[in-house]
This record gives sequence, structure tokens and C-alpha cells, in this order.
Amino acid sequence: MLWWGPAVDNVVLGVCGSVAAYRAADLARELMRRGCTVRVCLTESAEKFVTRALFEALTGQPCLIGAFEEPESGRMAHIDWARQAGLLLIAPATANTIARLAAGVADDMLTTIASAYTGRMLIAPAMNPSMYASPALREALATLASRGAEIVEPAEGDVACGEQGQGKLASVERIAGVASVVLSASHALSGKKVLITSGPTREPIDSVRFVSNRSSGKMGSALARAALMMGADVTVVSGPSSAPLPIGATIVRVETAEEMLKGALARVKDADLVIGAAAVADYRPASPEKGKIRREAGRIELEMVANPDIIAALASAAKKGARVVGFAAEPGPDGEAARVKLARKGLFAIAVNDVSAPGIGFDADENELTLVRADGGEERSGRRSKLACALWLLEWLGG
Ligand code: PMT
Repeated sequence: MLWWGPAVDNVVLGVCGSVAAYRAADLARELMRRGCTVRVCLTESAEKFVTRALFEALTGQPCLIGAFEEPESGRMAHIDWARQAGLLLIAPATANTIARLAAGVADDMLTTIASAYTGRMLIAPAMNPSMYASPALREALATLASRGAEIVEPAEGDVACGEQGQGKLASVERIAGVASVVLSASHALSGKKVLITSGPTREPIDSVRFVSNRSSGKMGSALARAALMMGADVTVVSGPSSAPLPIGATIVRVETAEEMLKGALARVKDADLVIGAAAVADYRPASPEKGKIRREAGRIELEMVANPDIIAALASAAKKGARVVGFAAEPGPDGEAARVKLARKGLFAIAVNDVSAPGIGFDADENELTLVRADGGEERSGRRSKLACALWLLEWLGG
């Protein structure tokens, strides 16, 4: 039997007991078409839908099911597979397996491999829409995401039970596409320290109200995740956001621009790469009220004062040779204003996103970046997931 040896494009494909299990056969073939070596591990429930023989014939590799199986006698398959995989991809992932993974339960071969595995993980859930919406499942997925797993959200549509909604396994092309992105991450940031600002800031009007913006923190979170994948030591100074930040990063939570400035300045001296993805409020109320402003007057006037320019301050304070990079949220495709910001803030480069374009920018799962460098060079990412944009950007900046 071929010994596959550790390699970045080795994929362990975990298949769970779902009607969508049959689609894992196409997924295995698609991953192989993209150059991966694929080994399949079925849960016992998956075996009710698909067979070991199917996957062994398709992949030319052994398939594991039971916790005590040893295709290479004298070796511990769960450790071998965990050590040698460049990606653990679970598709379809059922509610039961997702909950077991989140809880760290290792009671079959797949969850035992997962518990011994420390690398990149991708989870593609498939289930009834009500199960997918259930709080327990959402919490388990959030836990896995916060530990660095990528989730390929299920699609909307008809599911096997006859209901409609979100729960249908994402398309084979989409899952394989995300897997390729995750597998393509280099280790160009190994040993580097990366500091990221992320999310919105909140500037108090009184004790219960604030001025803020539509940043969800997804772009900053994707940058943190991508930098970790590429081997960096990552610190995120994040404004209030519900986007899960990866557990391997140091997270500094702040509310206001002034707190963000303080949090980032305290860490900038160590950083090799600084990225300002935060949507910092440019202005804040000059004198926030203590307590609650009462609805008495017909109108009120708020005096606003300028907030500090955080990324410009970081560019001045960064160590020699560090690259300080901003983002520019532009209300149109013209990059001229971004070039002015790049020069004014003293940056190495600026990543421009057109926040007027539908489906990208604020709160979207995708983005489209133009990287404008101070030396005049310009590169375009094309429209991709925020994670793929982040990897693309970091490959340019880390090289
Ligand atoms: O969080 P998401 O929902 O995923 O959305 C992502 C995003 C659209 C917020 C992100 O991609 C983005 O564009 N971030 C920068 C938003 C912004 O504030 O752009 P700007 O053009 O106003 O600022 C230019 C740069 O200066 C940015 O790096 C910003 O962080 C920085 N800045 C701005 C003002 C200020 N007072 N201090 C700063 O550091």
C-alpha cells in the first residue's frame, strides 16, 4: 500500500451520515482533479449511505471507518492521518459530528483523527434547515470557527426532508474552491508579527447611545485567520463586532477610536506588518453626556471633534522596515482618493474596496481589492471570499 507521507495537499475527507454523503464522491474526485491526494474517513452513520469500496475505488487510497482500524499494521492510523494531512475537510458535516467536534469528543475514527489534528480544517454542514438554525448548532459552529476552522455555509434550497431553507450542502465547486484557497496559503509570514485593527469603533453620544458604522469585522477576522495560516504571530485590536476572531490570535477588545489607538500603539513596536482594516469613526461627539439625553427639546445639536488617525500614528511609530498598510473604503471605483490617503498617512500600501458595489465591502462575505503600493504598483484580487482576499493580500505583502 502506498504510504502517502506528509504533504500540504493531502486531504483527509471526513464524511458523515447525511443524504448528501453521496456528493462526497464527486467532491473527492474534484479535489483530486485539483492535485490533492484524498483519503476518506466515514462515520458509521455515513456507511448507511455510502460505502468504503466506493471511496477506495475513487481515491486509490484506504478508507477508515472504525476507531480501531489499522490499514498499516503496527501504526496508529488516527495519529498518522492527523500528522500527514494538509487539510481536514468534513463534508457533509452533520449536527451530531459538529457538536462532538466542538465538545472535543473523540468516540469514533473521524473525531479521533480531528482531536489529534492541529492543521487547517474546513467544515461543510448539511442538514434540515431547522437543525441548522438551532442555537446549539450555531454555538458549536461558532466554537469551531473561533478555533480556526473555516465553515462553508450550506446553500438555500430544497432539502431531502421536503423543507426549504438553508441546509443543503454547498456545491462541490464551492467546497473544493475554498479547500484550494486554504491549501494554497504559503508560510511566508512564519516568524513574523502581524498587528491588525478590525471592526468599527463606537463613539459615545451619552451613556446608552453611540455613533458607529456598518463594519462587521469580517475582513479583519479573515486577515487574522489568513495571517495565522501563513505562520504569523497575530494580534488583533478589534472594535465591537460579532465576527468570530480566531483563537490562535491575541485579541485586544476596544470600543472607541482613542482606545483602539492606545491598544495598537502599545503593540506596534514589535510588528513586522501592520494592517488597518478597522472602520474608525473619523469624528466623535465632543462632550458625551453622562446618563441618558432625555427627549425634551425638539432638536439637539451634537458637536463632533476629529478622532486621531490611527493608521498614520502607527506608520510613524512602527519599527524600521515594518510595512504599514491601510484599507480604503471608497464610495466608487475611482482610486484617486485612496492614493491621496496612502501618501498622507505615510503607508507602504493601501487596499482599496469599493463599498458602493453590491455584495462586497461592509458586512459582506466577499470583497474585491485593489492594492495600491507607495512605489506606484497596483494589483487586483478579483472578487473572492474575504478569506481568499486576505490570503491574496498577505501573499503580496509578506513576499
Ligand atoms: O468589517 P467588514 O464588514 O468586513 O468590512 C470591511 C471594511 C469595508 C470595513 C474594510 O474592508 C475597510 O475598507 N476598512 C477601512 C474602512 C475605512 O475606515 O476606510 P477609510 O478610507 O475611512 O480609512 C483609510 C484607512 O485609515 C483605513 O486603514 C482606516 O483603518 C484608517 N483610519 C481611518 C480613520 C481614522 N481615524 N483612523 C484610521 O486609522
